[in-house]
Amino acid sequence: MGIQRTLAIIKPDAVAGGKTGKILAHLEAAGFRLRAMSMTHLSEREAGEFYAVHRDRPFYSSLVAFMSSGPCIPVVLEGEGAVERLREVIGATDPLEAAPGTVRRLFAESKERNAIHASDSEENARKEVEFFFRGRDLL
Ligand code: CMP
Repeated sequence: MGIQRTLAIIKPDAVAGGKTGKILAHLEAAGFRLRAMSMTHLSEREAGEFYAVHRDRPFYSSLVAFMSSGPCIPVVLEGEGAVERLREVIGATDPLEAAPGTVRRLFAESKERNAIHASDSEENARKEVEFFFRGRDLL
């Protein structure tokens, strides 16, 4: 599998709730290296574009409103098999179903306000990293 890069987003619920530092510490303790990070406030249009794959799902408009409701923190993480490994570390979408010790189990409020996003494939990781970062912002 080798060294991969993937995108995480610390979502508006976690940023507003003062959980950013704890989540970053958790990710570093899990062995990921930080390769890029920023704080941004997505417009509704940008949030809608980022989650366009979910356009036809019943939760789409609520998800777009939530993701554009306040600042979020996109982060590029690097490590061995990082795409799959990050998904293990963050846990299931719904914090009630997430395994003990996972980021969502520890820090998420609900299935929608679930603290963190992670890319679901290497191809999507490349696209999602490009959505937020380019040039000298990406180490
Ligand atoms: P994420 O991993 O960022 O990918 C899509 C997001 O949609 C997901 O996290 C949740 O924030 C949200 N989501 C997925 N399923 C549901 C659902 N059934 N109800 C509400 N929000 C959801």
